Amino acid sequence: MAREISTVGVVGLGTMGAGIVEVFARNGIDVLAVEVSDAALERGRSTLVGSTDRAVAKGKLDPADRDALLSRISFEVGLGALRDADLVIEAVPEQLDLKRRLFAELDRVCKPTAILATNTSSLSVTEISVATQRPNQVIGIHFFNPAPIMRLVEVVRTVVTAPEVVADVEALCARLGKVDVTINDRAGFIANALLFGYLNHAVTMYEARYASREDIDAAMKLGCGLPMGPLALMDLIGLDTAYEILDTMYRRGGRDRRHAPAPLVKQMVTAGLLGRKSGRGFYTYEKPGSPVLVPDEETPTATESAAADGARGIATVGVVGSGTMATGIIEVFAKAGYEVVSVTRGAEKSARVCEAVKRSLDKGVVRGRLTEEERDAALGRVSWSATLEHLADADLVVEAVVEELSVKQALFAALDEICKPGVVLATTTSSLPVIQCAMATQRPADVVGLHFFNPAPAMSLVEVVHTIRTSARALATARAVVAALGKTGVVCADRAGFVVNALLFPYLNDAVRMLEASYSTADDIDNAMKLGCGYPMGPFELLDVVGLDVSLAIQRELYLELREPGFAPAPLLEHLVTAGYLGRKAGRGFRDHTSR
Ligand SMILES: NC(=O)c1ccc[n+]([C@@H]2O[C@H](COP(=O)([O-])OP(=O)(O)OC[C@H]3O[C@@H](n4cnc5c(N)ncnc54)[C@H](O)[C@@H]3O)[C@@H](O)[C@H]2O)c1
Repeated sequence: MAREISTVGVVGLGTMGAGIVEVFARNGIDVLAVEVSDAALERGRSTLVGSTDRAVAKGKLDPADRDALLSRISFEVGLGALRDADLVIEAVPEQLDLKRRLFAELDRVCKPTAILATNTSSLSVTEISVATQRPNQVIGIHFFNPAPIMRLVEVVRTVVTAPEVVADVEALCARLGKVDVTINDRAGFIANALLFGYLNHAVTMYEARYASREDIDAAMKLGCGLPMGPLALMDLIGLDTAYEILDTMYRRGGRDRRHAPAPLVKQMVTAGLLGRKSGRGFYTYEKPGSPVLVPDEETPTATESAAADGARGIATVGVVGSGTMATGIIEVFAKAGYEVVSVTRGAEKSARVCEAVKRSLDKGVVRGRLTEEERDAALGRVSWSATLEHLADADLVVEAVVEELSVKQALFAALDEICKPGVVLATTTSSLPVIQCAMATQRPADVVGLHFFNPAPAMSLVEVVHTIRTSARALATARAVVAALGKTGVVCADRAGFVVNALLFPYLNDAVRMLEASYSTADDIDNAMKLGCGYPMGPFELLDVVGLDVSLAIQRELYLELREPGFAPAPLLEHLVTAGYLGRKAGRGFRDHTSR
């Protein structure tokens, strides 16, 4: 018969513990909330009160329900209070020794039937369990941050966890309105194993001044629809906790260099820059514990953001190409008031592109995004041509032709002959080195990358890529144009994958490896990332949409450029591509799309 769980103990009321207390108390369960000292207890209590007050202010919680919630919690110092708990979950710092000592003590204090649970993110639940005399009643219950909001719970069973304990905890999760995935004890479980390599990589980019913190975060939010950027997420998790998780994952997870904590993380922890909880991490907050950002010395000034300094005026924009990206980019520039010269390889192609632009603008009218007059004016600004010579008067040329270096190089050489001096020449490549295009011309200082996302009219992100030869003026011009389009330009150096693809695809590849290792199913992995981290799509859903062939090609580029062993394409991805399972477009990828 299932165990009655009516009183739960929570040990440690920091970032996670305070949230976990709230989750239980909200669902009618009595909570014994325990800390090490009066000061820590007070901090935990005020975090909790702050969180419930915010929920009331936002209309998400009734004041009476808040009072009832708070009345279910008793705050205590010391473990003695946990004698009668049916289940105890700990959320103390991520250190194995500390947790083992704590579990030995809990084993002595708690009643024999009590389940002892850890909220560890990366430590071995098995190693923690054997510090007790009841390892079969020890389990991992891994909540996500912020616990009251994120719906996922990873339930981690060891080889000795009793099946009825697993069942009781699964039933408890359902009572809490959470979705659980039950998995074996492996470093980082599902979500963190996929998340932390990505977070650490983002820190490395910031540390190398590859892009600014704002740009790295904006890139992932706008390019992938993530609820927050990686550096803001590091601040939310807490840099000390993130350090411990990375360190453990490195040691337990096969010494993958991608988990070796970036040196900057350790330095920040030593300097007390722990993220939101200390008021300062990658960003600066109003006060410790506050989510409100305040400007600091790294915050871009208004003039920097506008990037108008030294920018050349642009009136006419040439767009070369006739595919999806070219079509979208023509529409974007025309809508923003630029004269556009579209160049394709023939009148027939031009007619098709023109039709596609018209269709898309018509859709905009139907949806009330623009008026008929605006549509007609935008179309009136585009001229259609099949000869590059018509770009002689353009101030900016954007190429969006096929992703083949030789084709792009030949085009850049031709543009170099035709275009006026000082014109900015841009490539939309998503994977080729921009410098290779630049060096096909006699004016590499004027060449930049403008990496639009698909569909260009809808996606507000543009990666603005400068090579080691790009002039400050060309970069300023490119940034100003992107701003004038109403898009967010993220400036980065010319490295494989720029910001978004370099951070996104290794994570997708890791998900494929996890599936390949039979650690979990595609459905559970997708769910873990959506419900645990707020991603709009799980990795396998996204891979099927992007196309497995495209994903494999990008992953290969990243691997070739960086030679990072962890970036080697997952064999399963290669096999699926060889088998023709390319994703939605082929009717089958990780999932079968024919019957849907
Ligand atoms: N931060 C996250 O995003 C996140 C997400 C999921 C899981 N976790 C895991 O949750 C656990 C806690 O992490 P956190 O980020 O909340 O840490 P934290 O540093 O914010 O909080 C830890 C709390 O534990 C208290 N504490 C320390 N020793 C104690 C003891 N012996 N008895 C009682 N309380 C004690 C501290 O006073 C502090 O309030 C870790 O195992 C971590 O891996 C963290």
